[in-house]
Amino acid sequence: MVEEYIELRNGAKMPRVGLGTWQAPPDLTKAAIKCAVKSGYRLLDTANDYSNEHVIGEALEELFSEGVVKREELFIQCKLWNTNHRPEHVKQDLLDTLHDLKLDYVDSFVIHWPQAVPSNGKYCAKRSDGCSLAHESKKTMFPVDDDGYWCTDKESHYVDTWAVMETLVDEGLTRSIGLSNFNRRQVEEILSVTKKHFPCVLQNESHPYLHELDLRNFCRINRIAFQAYSALGSANRPWRNFGSITSGAPKTGHEILEHPDILKIAQKYGKSTANVVMRWHLQIGGTLVAKSTNPGRIEANYKVWDFELTQDEMSVFEELNVGWRHLIWPETSNHPDFPFKDDLPTITSCRSLIRDFSKEVKYL
Ligand SMILES: NC(=O)c1ccc[n+]([C@@H]2O[C@H](COP(=O)([O-])OP(=O)(O)OC[C@H]3O[C@@H](n4cnc5c(N)ncnc54)[C@H](OP(=O)(O)O)[C@@H]3O)[C@@H](O)[C@H]2O)c1
Repeated sequence: MVEEYIELRNGAKMPRVGLGTWQAPPDLTKAAIKCAVKSGYRLLDTANDYSNEHVIGEALEELFSEGVVKREELFIQCKLWNTNHRPEHVKQDLLDTLHDLKLDYVDSFVIHWPQAVPSNGKYCAKRSDGCSLAHESKKTMFPVDDDGYWCTDKESHYVDTWAVMETLVDEGLTRSIGLSNFNRRQVEEILSVTKKHFPCVLQNESHPYLHELDLRNFCRINRIAFQAYSALGSANRPWRNFGSITSGAPKTGHEILEHPDILKIAQKYGKSTANVVMRWHLQIGGTLVAKSTNPGRIEANYKVWDFELTQDEMSVFEELNVGWRHLIWPETSNHPDFPFKDDLPTITSCRSLIRDFSKEVKYL
């Protein structure tokens, strides 16, 4: 028996399956959100750099006014962007998101990445600034140097950011706070400096090719919900197949949703491979967000409650844990807080693209 909700360390209930919205184009996102909620999803995951929060806000407004769902029945999670780590920008980042989502509070606000990047002094970077080179416009969410690597804000650190995150819970702007893309050492650091509101969620990449068992155990012991992102393997991401600095397709030779062993299990139950992968996440005790903007797939993906993988089927997944990380983001690998530095010996993707850490780090 797999429960639909888990209890967070602050006592709130969090759905174990959520809809992701990264790379969901705005013109498809409103319908996707409405379809998801009508199909049973109660967790929606978003972020200001996804450029679709304003559309999600419109969808929520319609869902509430049509009586489909009440605000308190939803769990809405958003993220603090890397340019807004400085204490004076943290609250404004969330206020902008709340404005776009047309909400008074979110259920979870997580630090998107540990790497703080320049914000140009008093400026709080916003989505409309778009993506451009830092030296051309410092008012950007994506400040990169001439080599395409991210700049570092040397006067900002996530420990100081966390102190402000805690105040947002007291102010009622978010019910809980959490982390994303932090490694174990970085999470431990946050736990050691937390005064009142401990992280409830750690949202990191995990799927059948990257189980993250140590991190999951660490989270369980510390009462942090491990929430897998790219839970289906994030297929169809165009950069994976090109020669850019973020390329790297799975070395198994198969996309996760096309892996023959998973396909075989799916056929047995009359389910999709996505359903089988989601069921694996749930049966190892995890929680997840999976993205789709296709109404048929959104609805079908949520049908994971009416079948159960056997022990033998679960053990098939043990063979697939090859340490492939699709979002290694090597453009940030010269940042002192690049989270995957500690994992490099076990990572099988993109290793040649990681920048030599001994090189000088560029600051703005
Ligand atoms: N914190 C972070 O830094 C971070 C990073 C990455 C992701 N996330 C979050 O996690 C969410 C999920 O991760 P993700 O978007 O990277 O990838 P994902 O959910 O693993 O995979 C999404 C891809 O799978 C396709 N798909 C979905 N259901 C399918 C099915 N039944 N059959 C075949 N293809 C299917 C989608 O296409 P269609 O839309 O066409 O169905 C899309 O191309 C994100 O949307 C975001 O909310 C967070």
